[in-house]
Amino acid sequence: MRYLNQHAIITGGSSGIGKATAKLLAQQGANLSLIARDRHKLEQAQEEIATLKVDSNQKISILAANVANQQEIETAIQKAIAELGTPELLITSAGMAHPGYFTEMPLEVFEQTMAVNYFGSLYSIKAVLPAMEQQQRGNLVLISSGAGLIGIYGYTAYCPAKFALRGLAESLRGELKPKGIKVIIVYPPDTDTPQLAAENKIKPPETKLITATAKTWTADAVAQQILQGVTQGSLAIAPGTELTILNRFHSLLAPLLDWYFDRIIKQAKKINN
Ligand SMILES: NC(=O)c1ccc[n+]([C@@H]2O[C@H](COP(=O)([O-])OP(=O)(O)OC[C@H]3O[C@@H](n4cnc5c(N)ncnc54)[C@H](OP(=O)(O)O)[C@@H]3O)[C@@H](O)[C@H]2O)c1
Repeated sequence: MRYLNQHAIITGGSSGIGKATAKLLAQQGANLSLIARDRHKLEQAQEEIATLKVDSNQKISILAANVANQQEIETAIQKAIAELGTPELLITSAGMAHPGYFTEMPLEVFEQTMAVNYFGSLYSIKAVLPAMEQQQRGNLVLISSGAGLIGIYGYTAYCPAKFALRGLAESLRGELKPKGIKVIIVYPPDTDTPQLAAENKIKPPETKLITATAKTWTADAVAQQILQGVTQGSLAIAPGTELTILNRFHSLLAPLLDWYFDRIIKQAKKINN
């Protein structure tokens, strides 16, 4: 059991990809601290995950905090460390996406998307680092998105926040490596979660057509890829062939993808006129 008695802190651990990863870690003996805002959802996740424990001493702890609020997330992470020790893993899965037309979305959507996805991850990393540095080990797993590799029509608020995570991971990696701390970035594809369901309700038709070309993954399958990648020492985890190719060659492929997406966008405009 790879994670027996080890501690993993997961922001966004009450739902979707975060919860699925928590379930796998519980099956591998980990102690977990799940952080999200809604206490009721956290309690439900805690109950569900507790059924997967493999050791009677295993602890599944929950903490309510908004990752976009620096003080709240710092306090929650400090509590988690005081209770269950320095984590082997911090997974920053708390996130939000609000698709729409750039010209129609209010500034608050852009600000909130950056606050939750980017600064929420940054604050979490800052809060956990002193303990990891002292222990000279740890893994920081940042959940970006396929939308962190290429700009996607309708995602002008979300893509920049997920691109920013990539920039953070790539620039922080070398600084923390000598300290025994790994920085890992994950680019999940479309995944069947409450977030995706909410996005699908408000996506512009052009975005619907573009994203319809990609297969939707289960959260469990994405979680498997995340833990497999961490175990193998991958620094970037891009589940599936499409995102693996995109991760390696995105700059080369960009002109071709632009041409392809423009065709789809024209089609969508024809259908909706
Ligand atoms: N689903 C996809 O297709 C997909 C694809 C690529 C990347 N991703 C990324 O994967 C991550 C997980 O998404 P998901 O699809 O699994 O979503 P999800 O099922 O909606 O889960 C999101 C989790 O984040 C928590 N959360 C949201 N805002 C928060 C905040 N301000 N403070 C603390 N917790 C917060 C939610 O709990 P509360 O609401 O109770 O706070 C929930 O636990 C996100 O970063 C997302 O951008 C998702």
